[in-house]
Amino acid sequence: MDLKKRSREMKDFFNERIDEYDDLHLKIIKAKEKIVDFIPKDAKNIIDLGTGTGLQLIKVYKEFPNIKTIAIDVSDEMLKKLEDRHISDNITIVNESFFDYDFCCCRDAVISTQALHHFDPKDKLVLFKKIYDSLKEGGVFINEDYYVESLEEEKKGFDDYKNLVKGEGKHYDTPLTIEHEIELLKEAGFSNILKYVTDEEKIVVATK
Ligand SMILES: C[S@@+](CC[C@H](N)C(=O)[O-])C[C@H]1O[C@@H](n2cnc3c(N)ncnc32)[C@H](O)[C@@H]1O
Repeated sequence: MDLKKRSREMKDFFNERIDEYDDLHLKIIKAKEKIVDFIPKDAKNIIDLGTGTGLQLIKVYKEFPNIKTIAIDVSDEMLKKLEDRHISDNITIVNESFFDYDFCCCRDAVISTQALHHFDPKDKLVLFKKIYDSLKEGGVFINEDYYVESLEEEKKGFDDYKNLVKGEGKHYDTPLTIEHEIELLKEAGFSNILKYVTDEEKIVVATK
C-alpha cells in the first residue's frame, strides 16, 4: 500500500467530515471508553494513534488526570477540535502520520480507537513492531477497532479499495479479522495477547 497516498486520503476524508464526526462517533463512545480499563494503573505516559477529536481521551483524563499523552493524527481539522476541547495540558498534539513519527521508547501504553482498519497486513506488521519497540517491559498496546469475520471479507475489502483507488474514490475501510491481527501482533514480538469482544466492543490488548 502506498502509505503517503493513504495518509493523504485519510486527512482529506476526515477533514471533509469534521462537522458530522463527533455526532456519528458518540454513538460508539462506550467502546472507545472501555480501553481505559486496560491502561496500567501506574501508567504515566502513553501514545494515542489516530487520536482524532479525542473522544476517547475524555475518559482517559477522568481516570488518569496526570498522564502524559502524545496524540498523533494526520487530520489537522480533527486535531483542531481536540485542541478546542481543552481536555488537559498534558496532551502533546502531533499532526503527522504514525508511520512517520518516531515513537521513541519506554511508553507505558500505546492506545488506538477506530483508527487502524485502513492498512494492509505488511504495513500493520511494521507499525506493530514499532509499537512493540516503543513500549517498556510490561507496557501494553490497546487497540479498539472493527474487524471482519472471514479472510474472504478481508480480501474483498482490499480488492474494493484497489478498484476505488483506480477510480475517483478516496476512502475505503480495509479491516482484518481479529485472528489475523493477533497473528501479526505475535509476529511483532507480543506473546501475551488478550481479546475483549462483546456485541459492542472489540478490543485487543497486547502486553510486552
Ligand atoms: C475513525 S477516526 C478515529 C478517531 C478517534 N480515535 C476516535 O475513536 O474517535 C480515525 C482517525 O485516524 C486518523 N489516521 C488515519 N491514518 C492515520 C495515520 N497514518 N497517521 C495518523 N493518523 C491517522 C484519521 O485522520 C482519523 O482522525
